[in-house]
Order: sequence, then C-alpha cells, then structure tokens
Amino acid sequence: MRTFDKGLLVNKTLLCLALTLGVSAPVLAEEAAHEQPASQVDQLLPICQSCHGDKGAKPMMPSYPVLAGQYANYLEHALKDYRSGARNNPIMKAQVATVSDADIKALAQYFAQQESPLYTFTLPTGGAAPAPAAK
Ligand code: HEC
Repeated sequence: MRTFDKGLLVNKTLLCLALTLGVSAPVLAEEAAHEQPASQVDQLLPICQSCHGDKGAKPMMPSYPVLAGQYANYLEHALKDYRSGARNNPIMKAQVATVSDADIKALAQYFAQQESPLYTFTLPTGGAAPAPAAK
C-alpha cells in the first residue's frame, strides 16, 4: 500500500511539473525577450576595431593591445574590470561603461576567434589550463 501511495505522489508531482512548465515556459520566454536589452555588438565592433585594428589583429598604435586570438575568458575579464574600474584605464572604461555582460561576452568571443599574430596555446575544451607536471 505504501509503495502505491508513493507512486501516486510521484505521478501527481510529475503532472504538476508538466503543467507548470507547459504553461509558464512561453510566458517566461516572452518576458525575457522584453527585458533583454538589444545587443550593441554590431555598433561596437567597428569602434573597437578603429583602435585595435581590423578584427583586433592590427592595433593603430604600438601601445594598443592585440585582441585577436587572446583567450575569450581573459578578454571578458579585462572588459569587466575596465567597466568596474578594477582595471583603471580611462580610454577603455569609456568604451565599455554601458555595455552589458552578454555583449562583453560576445565581444570577447568574437576577438578570441580571430586569426592572430600572437601565439596562444590551445586549451583543451573546458578552458582550464593543464595542471603543471608534479616535480
Ligand atoms: C580609443 C581607442 C580604443 C577603442 C575605441 C577601444 N580600445 Fe580597447 N584598448 C585601448 C587601449 C589603449 C588599451 C590598453 C589599456 C591598458 O593599458 O589597460 C585597450 C585595451 C583593451 C583590452 C585589454 C587587452 C589586454 O591584452 O589586456 C581589451 C579586451 C579591449 N581593449 C577591448 C576593446 C573592445 C571590445 C572595444 C570595443 C568595445 C575596445 N577595446 C575599444 C584602446 C581602445
């Protein structure tokens, strides 16, 4: 009898879950679409390239860094630090002051994927550097 009760409870729970998901998923998706600010990436990319060069690979000034081929997570981290001021650079702070996390991620991924004059070791998927060999 106990097992029967449990089975019934599980079935009811699953039914409730199915109903909740079925009803709320489209509503949630619609809300997200309204709240999500439009991506600025298309407008930003030409501006970034005006200093960092075509596809981030040929900076206009020797003191401007190459972005192409750098690790995406590094670029993302740098951009967030400029935005917060943790990395203090007035030029770059102005570039990313109003850029969303999602756009920062997209910009970082774009530049990371471009052909680069830099040599960056390709990390295994998952992004973590291999642990140094024990001595
Ligand atoms: C007016 C010129 C200019 C523009 C426009 C510009 N940058 Fe920069 N960027 C710089 C300079 C100069 C630095 C070096 C700052 C420093 O010393 O921290 C830099 C640094 C960076 C870095 C750090 C790279 C590293 O190796 O640590 C990233 C990432 C970056 N910029 C991305 C962007 C992106 C993305 C855009 C467009 C949204 C952009 N930049 C627009 C001039 C510019």
